Amino acid sequence: MPNKKRTILVVGGAGYIGSHMVRQLNNASHAVVTLDNLSTGNRRLIGEGEFVEGNLGDADLLDRLFAEYAIDAVMHFAAFSQVGESMTRPLKYYRNNIAETITLLETMVRNGVKQFIFSSTAAVYGEPESVPIAENHVLKPTNPYGNTKLAVERMLADCDCAHGLKYVALRYFNAAGADGSGEIGEMHDPETHLIPIVLQAAAGQRDHMQVFGTDYPTTDGTCIRDYVHVNDLAQAHLLALDALLEGAGSAVYNLGSSQGYSVREVIGKAEAVTGRNIPVKEAPRRAGDPAVLIASSDRIKKELGWRPVYDNLEAIIESAWNWHAAPSAG
Ligand code: UFG
Repeated sequence: MPNKKRTILVVGGAGYIGSHMVRQLNNASHAVVTLDNLSTGNRRLIGEGEFVEGNLGDADLLDRLFAEYAIDAVMHFAAFSQVGESMTRPLKYYRNNIAETITLLETMVRNGVKQFIFSSTAAVYGEPESVPIAENHVLKPTNPYGNTKLAVERMLADCDCAHGLKYVALRYFNAAGADGSGEIGEMHDPETHLIPIVLQAAAGQRDHMQVFGTDYPTTDGTCIRDYVHVNDLAQAHLLALDALLEGAGSAVYNLGSSQGYSVREVIGKAEAVTGRNIPVKEAPRRAGDPAVLIASSDRIKKELGWRPVYDNLEAIIESAWNWHAAPSAG
């Protein structure tokens, strides 16, 4: 096949989503070079292929990598991604997510590498005017994190016009779950995401978990989110990569399951999956949380034939629980 055995630079490949991507690229027989500064990535998540410890904003290092390896495409997972932290430390987000990404794009242009896959986010939409959210929904981020991702999407469109850089921006909704091997999974420090926190409470690693806001205009008063399995996300990147390598134009796609679950529903399903009681305390709303986020992923299904394997939340939680219970999860 013409699109096999390409060399892919995975920036941020030692992180949660990046490590699942590296695994799938290897499974698809691509050669992988992982670049990660291990600031939020983890040595235990480094997969097969070359590993280089370093910053995406290090132009000399990137020039050396592009000279040493015949890189066909770059996938970029190396962003800070906590909405709450971005509100209190916006410049940390602007520095890493925008300024360093400019360096990465500059070195790509300089070295003639013209295929780019970008981890974007549902946070580019802000508070939705209607759900499910399609890609043509108005873009109005409500936090610095979303602003940084939208800024990069706009830079990419300009780089396409000016330099012929072809890109796919993938707007993730709520990434969740873990690879079935139990060898890689979500391990943030501190953890802020709902499913890992719920499972830590189920495992007795926390005495309780907090439900942030019980007065939202939803059926049970808690926020509704669209959870998508991390391996389904990685699969979408492979499809996007194949499309770019076959000469497709730049594109933007949502990645979600098109199904929404409230925080209370997630907790209920996690109790059913784990067979454990999850102690809950009600807490005030968390700043910046929209009430409901549900994706329409019709565009990528139609244009690239994306078929998510995980179509229910129980299976996603089960895979996450399998990882949390694994010794490597630490
Ligand atoms: N929540 C709790 N208790 C917790 C943690 C989370 O009640 O201990 C709630 C949140 O308030 C929210 C829901 O669970 O309503 C999901 O929260 P997450 O932190 O797991 O995920 P978010 O929806 O906040 O964030 C995700 C991505 C971001 C992206 C955002 C778009 O992780 O990268 O969607 O709004 F920006």
